[in-house]
Amino acid sequence: MKIIDGKKISNEVLDEIKVLVGHRVKNNLKIPHLAAVLVGDEGPSQTYVNSKIKACKRVGFQSSLFKFDKSISENKLINEIQKININDNIDGFIVQLPLPVKINQEKILNKVNPDKDVDGFHPLNYGKMALGIETFLPATPAGIIELIQRSNIDLKSKKCLVIGRSQIVGRPISILLSQNKIFGNATVTVAHSKSDNLKELCLDSDVIISAIGIPEFIKGEMIKTGSTIIDVGISRVNDNSSVKGYKIIGDVDFKSVSDKVGYITPVPGGVGPMTIAMLLKNTLKACSLKD
Ligand code: GUN
Repeated sequence: MKIIDGKKISNEVLDEIKVLVGHRVKNNLKIPHLAAVLVGDEGPSQTYVNSKIKACKRVGFQSSLFKFDKSISENKLINEIQKININDNIDGFIVQLPLPVKINQEKILNKVNPDKDVDGFHPLNYGKMALGIETFLPATPAGIIELIQRSNIDLKSKKCLVIGRSQIVGRPISILLSQNKIFGNATVTVAHSKSDNLKELCLDSDVIISAIGIPEFIKGEMIKTGSTIIDVGISRVNDNSSVKGYKIIGDVDFKSVSDKVGYITPVPGGVGPMTIAMLLKNTLKACSLKD
């Protein structure tokens, strides 16, 4: 079993970004500025946004947090987004998801200026991604691709099973890995909550990318010997022995797959840190495109 160390690889990416920011400073170019819009006080979303802001400091970016009460109206939120859209100092921003249920997420994401859409969720950028046109790739799929590439895993013609069809992870990674690109050319199957025979699908796969959010769902008996597993699950499970009162568990039962798996991403310390690194990479790109 080889562990794909997302923490280490993300640090490499962040170091590379930091060097590029240093060059920008030397050349009197604009320092990249990432903003985050956070609505409500959901614990996990606050934690993710805080990590994104912390990473900005680490690479020398500017950052801003726009925090709104969960009672904010859709129109007021759109108004705030439009202010960020025209703020020349902000190069890229994200609207942290999920939004409160009374707010129409699709409508909000449609209002983000596509040139500042470093999450790649605006339909224009998502469409470009699907067409294989250069754009901002959503950060989690981009992070998965970076992990695979930097681990020298070639997906060409490999049977790759994506479990989950979310707009943030499952759908885009399935599109990207089937494309005729250096990182792609896999034979991709997408499984989801209505799929039958998940065990058979898993057993037949060279690579499994799991993004279903069911703790320790994938067991050793479900996987092929030597396969690669990318675990995107991040479920919070009560844990009285930890200071926080919970621990983060992936979709994969790490212990039971450890004898059979070839490469695996741990949780935590796998895909999670890469998502942040790729978001920053997109922000640097948004800033550089304005030079
Ligand atoms: N919530 C969970 N993942 C993401 C992400 O990649 N971007 C945003 N904006 N919200 C999220």
